[in-house]
Amino acid sequence: MDFELTEEQRMIRDTAREFAAREVAPKAAELDKTGRWPTEIVAKMAELGLMGVAIPEAYGGAGMDTLSYALAMEEVSAACASCGVIMSVNNSLFCDPVYKFGTDDQKKRVLAPVARGEKLGCFGLTEPMSGSDAQTMITTAEKRGGVWVLNGAKNWITNGPHADWILVFAVTDRSGPKVRHTAFLVERGAKGYTQNAPDHKLGIHAAHSCTVFFDNVEVPEAHVVGPAGDGFKVAMATLDGGRIGIACQAVGIARAAFDKSVEYAKERKSFGVPIAQHQAIQFMLADMATQVDAARLLAWRAAKMKDAGVRHTPESAAAKLYASEMATRVTHKAIQVHGGYGYSTEFPVERHYRDARITEIYEGTSEIQRMVIAGNLLK
Ligand code: CAA
Repeated sequence: MDFELTEEQRMIRDTAREFAAREVAPKAAELDKTGRWPTEIVAKMAELGLMGVAIPEAYGGAGMDTLSYALAMEEVSAACASCGVIMSVNNSLFCDPVYKFGTDDQKKRVLAPVARGEKLGCFGLTEPMSGSDAQTMITTAEKRGGVWVLNGAKNWITNGPHADWILVFAVTDRSGPKVRHTAFLVERGAKGYTQNAPDHKLGIHAAHSCTVFFDNVEVPEAHVVGPAGDGFKVAMATLDGGRIGIACQAVGIARAAFDKSVEYAKERKSFGVPIAQHQAIQFMLADMATQVDAARLLAWRAAKMKDAGVRHTPESAAAKLYASEMATRVTHKAIQVHGGYGYSTEFPVERHYRDARITEIYEGTSEIQRMVIAGNLLK
């Protein structure tokens, strides 16, 4: 597999890197501390085409590929993991499935403004009693008088408090041997669709999530995404792409913590020399660099397979599994390199450590990724 970047891919990486350094990184500590939603950063990401990177221009996107998206995700996440996940939910969990499974009308009317970043999207799969075992959802949609009527609740909905559209999954048929699910588009403001207050979390404080409720929400047939009854496949295929985004978010977080560790190790002295001259520190840095690179390559492999139109379920799972656990290890070591200062909120590595942790949980826990990988190995 050729990992040489094209001119266009280098351009989007450099644009995202420069934007992240100039406009995102200087605000990351404040966003973490206050939990403020980064309105101005989301608007700027939209202007740069980062809210619909791999969506064709005809549908409001930047018309680039998944690898370009991966590159931009790493850059934004290295500066601010909250901004990274806001971007990834919009790109991977909303735009990608509507583009892949939606009707032309849905793409023009719903996808295009979301891909341009004028509107925001989110994804409703998880429920209070149904996380890893997603098929056990109890949200239902019943066809009544020509419309679908949705009832239930979805939680941990990243972007939920601000999203204009949710792609939501509900049970639509329990009559056969297998429960069938269907994917629906619901617009903010639809009667009976409400959200509660944002969740309080360990990290990614500026990426708001919440529980959303559907109380007899009427959804027209025109808002069904993909064939009725095939919603679970829509969700799973979407997560195959989403996991690439989260892998890149984890790589970005870890890279940021690693870069700061190198800088600190060159400045901080102990026993008469910069700590970078001690083998104990050098070995930590060497391991960190190797693991960041390995995770990036796994993510790029999955991205290139997605671009080639090849099924990439286990490759995405492996990228997400390795990158997320790597980010926890690398940010842990970054604190160790910084010693007591690493534990202080004066230095950014404790934020990276807190932000990294969620990447092992959302879009499928590490245990689910192992199940997916093992399932593919043994079939
Ligand atoms: N692509 C397409 N179809 C797929 C698929 C894929 N990757 N994986 C499974 N399917 C299909 C299967 O072929 C099967 O089809 P049939 O019914 O026709 O046979 C159907 O889907 C059911 O598949 P399984 O029997 O394998 O399903 P399962 O119940 O055993 O569950 C699972 C599989 C992998 C455990 C799944 O439930 C899963 O991924 N769980 C984790 C859920 C998750 O990641 N949630 C994250 C929420 S989003 C989020 O976190 C957003 C955020 O805030 C950032």
